[in-house]
Amino acid sequence: MKYRHSPAVLVLLLALTLLPAPPADVAGSGATPVPDHITLTWTGDPATSITISWRTDTSVTAGFVQYQPGNAIPHGAPQVKAEARDFSTDLGTSRLFSATLVNLAPNRQYSYRVGDGNRWSEMRSFSTADPKIRSFKFLVFGDSQWHLNDNPPYLPWRNTVHNAYNANPDARFMINVGDLVDWGQRGAHWNAWFAAAKGVIDRIPIMPASGNHESYGSRDTMRPKFWTEQFTLPRNGPDGHSNVYSFDYGPLHVVVLDSQQEEQKQYGDILKPQVEWLEADLKASKATWKIAVFHRPPYGVHIKRNEKEIREAFCPVLEKYGVDIVFGAHDHGIARTYPVRNGARMQRTSEGTIYYVVGHSGGKVYKDIEKKELHAFFHNPVDHPNYLVVNVGEKQMTVRVMKQDGTLIDTFSVDKKKRSRPTDY
Ligand SMILES: [Fe+2]
Repeated sequence: MKYRHSPAVLVLLLALTLLPAPPADVAGSGATPVPDHITLTWTGDPATSITISWRTDTSVTAGFVQYQPGNAIPHGAPQVKAEARDFSTDLGTSRLFSATLVNLAPNRQYSYRVGDGNRWSEMRSFSTADPKIRSFKFLVFGDSQWHLNDNPPYLPWRNTVHNAYNANPDARFMINVGDLVDWGQRGAHWNAWFAAAKGVIDRIPIMPASGNHESYGSRDTMRPKFWTEQFTLPRNGPDGHSNVYSFDYGPLHVVVLDSQQEEQKQYGDILKPQVEWLEADLKASKATWKIAVFHRPPYGVHIKRNEKEIREAFCPVLEKYGVDIVFGAHDHGIARTYPVRNGARMQRTSEGTIYYVVGHSGGKVYKDIEKKELHAFFHNPVDHPNYLVVNVGEKQMTVRVMKQDGTLIDTFSVDKKKRSRPTDY
């Protein structure tokens, strides 16, 4: 058999092959006629729209979202027909539904439920954005992937995401920085992941990045197919890169990129089209705050890793346009750089970009990580998963990094008062 990947990737894939998958019955027996995997995302303006996706078995031929302002069961309320598509994994074929509600009133709470017209989900609610909002918070999660010590699988992720949301019910959305699951091409992992996140991702939108594990199949690496099929996201990225997109929430511009060149080398250079798109995207943005999200951290902490290819591709453009914070993951450690510009340490946040490695929200930990030259803060969370709370304000954006139990690990702020204009870079 002819392999196209580096020895390191092949060794990793072999090791993963030898690991048992979490049993399917942990997450339920799979899809049923009753909707599950109910997920909120945005594909349009957060002030006036929301996208709702869910899953059933293939006996269900139609899907609807019923919704209305307020917090009452939307019985008899207007309903929108969803688009349906079949979704096949190693566990069989299910049906995915997705509908985008548009022309919603800004800054308003809506109740909703999904179903086929006869069988409905539990009622949930979401809130549209206030277009004039100047301060709000959102959550960030690193690698939630399963680890052998998880019992049951994805329990650490379940606890982290629920603890984070319960402590921050006013969070407007959440970001996942890739490696949501350990085996991206196995249905049982996604079943367990969605079951763990139920109660959160059906209340606030999740805007994820894909990681290397989303590319792992049984013997080779590939596009993050299951990730792409299950998350309905903005289609404003470069052609053929549906896991690359950007969106705005109030004064914040968020760019999500794909750093998995290693796993997708068989498809050619995936970085160049992203860099060209990134330049145009950031150049067009007039947002006060800008963040970027991608899995491989340009300034990571793993003793054997150096993401030179990613750093050289993305960082010059990110820094040129004054991106405030870049959130990376992959190394399962927590690390914050000083403000960085052109690989050098700057004195003020107004002069450079902060690169943050966000730790892990699941059970997998690394011991072979260390603080490196440009890091102002480093912590290896070997005994606790963690999450981030980001408060966006008019003059400052403040990040708090919390243990799963809510204990503060790190905090820092980016000051906007003296931020240079992009053309000053
Ligand atoms: Fe990773």
